[in-house]
Amino acid sequence: MRVLIAGAAGMLGQDVVGAAQRRGHEVVAMSRYDLDVTDPASIDRAIAELRPEAVIDCAAFSDVDGAEDDERGAMAINDTGAGLLAAAAAGIGASILYPSSDYVFDGTKAAPYLEDHMPDPINAYGRSKLGGEVSVAAANPRHFIVRTSWLFGLGGGNFVETMLRIGGEQPEVLVVSDQRGCPTSCTDLAEGMVRLIGTDRYGIHHMVGDGDCTWFEFAVEIFDQAHMETRVMSATTELMARKAKRPAYSVLGQSREDAILLQPWQHALRRYLDDRELIAR
Ligand SMILES: NC(=O)c1ccc[n+]([C@@H]2O[C@H](COP(=O)([O-])OP(=O)(O)OC[C@H]3O[C@@H](n4cnc5c(N)ncnc54)[C@H](OP(=O)(O)O)[C@@H]3O)[C@@H](O)[C@H]2O)c1
Repeated sequence: MRVLIAGAAGMLGQDVVGAAQRRGHEVVAMSRYDLDVTDPASIDRAIAELRPEAVIDCAAFSDVDGAEDDERGAMAINDTGAGLLAAAAAGIGASILYPSSDYVFDGTKAAPYLEDHMPDPINAYGRSKLGGEVSVAAANPRHFIVRTSWLFGLGGGNFVETMLRIGGEQPEVLVVSDQRGCPTSCTDLAEGMVRLIGTDRYGIHHMVGDGDCTWFEFAVEIFDQAHMETRVMSATTELMARKAKRPAYSVLGQSREDAILLQPWQHALRRYLDDRELIAR
């Protein structure tokens, strides 16, 4: 299948390109300089010239705190741009896969959010991702909305890298223990996404690492697996004030019978640390 990947230079985009190539697809990887999702002419040109059968939209305004100061910018990419790309794909009968986020939920539940639970975002980034879900679904009947969370991939900055850097610089680190979610490997997610585009299982999917934890527990596991002595100290969200509000509980569960399940996040972390070491050699 010919697959066009927008935002291909991003953290998830890089893994999606690799996963699609390994699956034998003809991959067209486009960074924002090749295809800008805020530029309709750029979208139309790429779709008309390349005529993909599936489009994966890894382009994103992904700065959660930054979106509070630039909600229009976040909307332009995550909502309007995603809708334009989905519509262009629909115009040639191609499907669209749009990665979305656990941050579409408000985090007030105490049991996993399922695909049909009501979203109610509490920050600008979440509103832009929910807007994108709606725009993509309205523009293209052959849509896959894949909600995921707490990504770590070798192609970009992420929580694992932040912890390893801080752990190398100081003996202790303060991490919030009152936000719970599902750490997810970009490698595993990318493979799941590429499996999905070969099916007709359209609609909303939740695709996250198996199991859940707090950021505090995630940090403890990182230092444990990396054999680092760094002491992890527990902090509250209130103490660590950030610009954007975060949902306290954003564990994603699956009720679809055809859901794609990923391996436990701890196993994925092990492989991430191994791969990271191989690259550093
Ligand atoms: N990271 C997470 O923990 C997480 C959690 C849940 C869901 N997600 C979702 O997963 C997807 C991938 O996120 P990510 O972490 O891989 O983000 P990322 O590393 O920031 O990648 C996004 C890519 O999109 C590019 N881009 C920005 N504006 C664009 C435009 N107008 N046209 C085309 N490309 C543009 C960026 O280029 P520049 O770098 O040059 O700006 C970057 O290469 C997003 O949909 C995000 O919402 C992420």
